[in-house]
Amino acid sequence: MKDHEDRQCSVLFVCLGNICRSPTAEGVLRHLLATEAPQLKVEVDSAGTADYHVGEPPDLRSQRAAKHRGIDLSGLRARQVSAADFAHFDLILAMDDQNLRALRALRPKASKARLRLFLDYADQLGSLEVPDPYCGDADDFERVLDLVTAASRGLIADLQKGA
Ligand code: 4NP
Repeated sequence: MKDHEDRQCSVLFVCLGNICRSPTAEGVLRHLLATEAPQLKVEVDSAGTADYHVGEPPDLRSQRAAKHRGIDLSGLRARQVSAADFAHFDLILAMDDQNLRALRALRPKASKARLRLFLDYADQLGSLEVPDPYCGDADDFERVLDLVTAASRGLIADLQKGA
């Protein structure tokens, strides 16, 4: 496909269930690329380290919070991260330390992907993890949006520098 051939970089966001944080990050980065950096061709996807919610759409609380910011997550479906993702993606970005450790354990020896915490792209926040909002309230889902928006802007700035 043309988009795939033209892409400069591919990014996979990873959380635990792939129904709250990582699909929110996927939707936010896609939205910011389309509205603020259309010249960047980036393949964006998300997955979970667990299989609890495979095939499900994003949590309704995530969908609702994103929709208030003009971002539609309804078409996304949860999947579990696989060994093949390490060969396909340039960057795999974990939402927290627990998921980063799970990814390191899963990573095949010959892996192309660079593994990082997503909030490494937003030093100014002073926190490196996107807290799990699953058992939280509406404010926790807003916080996820704030954090992933800041880190998405940092990632886009890096990509624009060719980093
Ligand atoms: P996520 O949130 O990792 O941001 O998608 C969670 C979703 C589901 C569960 C935990 C966290 N769960 O335990 O089912």
